[in-house]
Amino acid sequence: MLEAVEAKMREFIAELENEEIAKLFEALPHGKRLRAKLVLKVARQSPEAVALAAVIEMIHAASLLHDDVIDDATTRRGVPSMNATEGSKQAIMMGDILYSKGFEELTAFDRAIAATVARAVTQLSIGELMDVRLGDRFNPDIDAYMQMIYQKTAALIEATAAAAALLAGKDAKIYAIYGKNLGIAFQIIDDILDITQTSEQLGKPAMHDLEEGKTTLPYIYLHEALDEAGREKLAAMHGRKLGEEEKNWIKMMMEETGALRKAYLHARELGEEAAALMEGEREESLAEIVTAMIERDF
Ligand code: FPP
Ligand code: MG
Repeated sequence: MLEAVEAKMREFIAELENEEIAKLFEALPHGKRLRAKLVLKVARQSPEAVALAAVIEMIHAASLLHDDVIDDATTRRGVPSMNATEGSKQAIMMGDILYSKGFEELTAFDRAIAATVARAVTQLSIGELMDVRLGDRFNPDIDAYMQMIYQKTAALIEATAAAAALLAGKDAKIYAIYGKNLGIAFQIIDDILDITQTSEQLGKPAMHDLEEGKTTLPYIYLHEALDEAGREKLAAMHGRKLGEEEKNWIKMMMEETGALRKAYLHARELGEEAAALMEGEREESLAEIVTAMIERDF
């Protein structure tokens, strides 16, 4: 079924009748297609599920094109990012095209579905702004961080699950909570993998979040656990290139203080809540998505 979503996206792009756009679209790496899988699983009975999944993946792809420009990222999903190969102007315009075409197709859905997805895109844009603002300095504020990842990442996953539930005539509220928890847990696991995985495994530079200015959950917990001298040392590493010794110190302290473990347990708790909700709905495969995500390689 995922193949059908890829074909639908290609069909939407072909409607634009522009070879340059079609070529740039084909060059984009696919990623995990988590959002498409969610739509297909929640709304498997609906003939419109494939189109909804395509719309949401196009919006998501647009947001990543813009995000890589904002983050000055040179790689995405293991290959050079579009801003790196084609330049930022091209990446922004391609993002605009994917985003607007996605929205055009979204208007074909029921008002409640379209509104759910549209509202989430506003949220993720605000979340991105918050992310950039929080990056100005080392941020030890856990509430601000949780709010930011909810808006930046979880809001669209929440809306994906809710919109698919509306399409399938299921209880959108339950699926929204599932999506929200899944989304927050997903972002926390991503934050952990930045610290525990190699650049090859990640397909982007490892231990880069802090260098990029991102004080993610493991770093907030580490800050909480350190003494005054350790806190100062950590905060002074924010937003600049780190040496091997500094990276090793962070990794060692992350283990020693249990900060990494604490972040993992937080993600697992949210994941378990989400999985339990789906088991209650007899949606075993949706419960499995969360479990597999939580247990991604460490
Ligand atoms: C990745 O975060 C970024 C997002 C999930 C959202 C980005 C949102 C926007 C740029 C605003 C919306 C724009 C449009 C066109 C809809 P990250 O940088 O933490 O993750 P990464 O490591 O994958 O880059
Ligand atoms: Mg980024």
